[in-house]
Amino acid sequence: MKERIESLREEALAALEAAASAEALGSIERRVLGREGELTRVLASLPKLPKEERPAVGAAANRLKEEFLAALERRARALSEGDVEGERKALGFDPTLPGRRLRTGSLHPITLVARELEDLFSSMGFAIVDGPEVELEHYNFDAINIPPDHPSRDVWDTFWCEGTSGLLLRTHTSPVQVRAMERLTPPIRVLVPGRCFRHEAVDASHEHTFHQVEGLVVDRGISVAHMIGTLRTLLRGIFHRDLEVRLRPGFLPFVEPGFELDARCPFCGSKGCGVCKQSGWIEILPCGLVHPNVLRAGGLDPEAVSGFAFGLGLSRLAMLRYGIDDIRWFFSGDLRFLRQF
Ligand code: PHE
Repeated sequence: MKERIESLREEALAALEAAASAEALGSIERRVLGREGELTRVLASLPKLPKEERPAVGAAANRLKEEFLAALERRARALSEGDVEGERKALGFDPTLPGRRLRTGSLHPITLVARELEDLFSSMGFAIVDGPEVELEHYNFDAINIPPDHPSRDVWDTFWCEGTSGLLLRTHTSPVQVRAMERLTPPIRVLVPGRCFRHEAVDASHEHTFHQVEGLVVDRGISVAHMIGTLRTLLRGIFHRDLEVRLRPGFLPFVEPGFELDARCPFCGSKGCGVCKQSGWIEILPCGLVHPNVLRAGGLDPEAVSGFAFGLGLSRLAMLRYGIDDIRWFFSGDLRFLRQF
């Protein structure tokens, strides 16, 4: 009996030492002192022992019980306080090493800026809509007052789809103006972020693929004042302060009158810097009142409603916003670039 107690002692204490968790300690305790536990059985068998053996075996069994409970408590405390050495041994690895971080992706800078604008315009009651990237000539040009052979078509170096007549990669988001008018009834307020394509010589500021955001409002009595108010809100959203703006005349066939909107350079406070090319002003976007022919093409009556539209170069805006010096970074797929956002 003495030997049985001694081997039980060695086994139980070694098991405690090796245990790496509270659950493991619990199961050792059950194995030793549970209802069917080995030590429990020894203690239960004491009354059946010959009288002469009883005191010595009883004393040894009780000593073991105390020793075991004390060791159990010590081990439990050590585990909960982080007995690093013991745990390291038991686990076979170092639990204090920092975990391996999962690399999650991040949003592309174009997406970040687009979402910011979507939030801002949603808050002004605009619907966010999109249109096809492979577009009909009709919407990209004719319906927005650029008939075939109109010289201004040359402004947009167009990728035409081969073998099909009248299909192209949209050169701007403006075709969605007429698509929106056809689907919605005034008051219309839409914001159209989207990818556009032009057959350009690629350099630091020109890409064959780039992003624009179109804005369109059509309602009764819409004027240039509404347009200026909306665009100032746009600027405040982007640059987080009020910037003085100016309108210069600009020509695009789908707006009349047409303008170029400039803002006081937010980077130098209009003193002159590299971004504004020492002029104190930065060009923000072309805009204007929707041409009556465009309203008509959208099935609306220019005598009853009027509207304004603007076209924001989203790629350029993201460049301004994040100080990106070359538009080619956007589609470079270069992780050194993308991980900065
Ligand atoms: N679609 C024009 C462009 O790409 C921009 C624009 C949109 C101008 C709406 C005026 C109104 O150049």
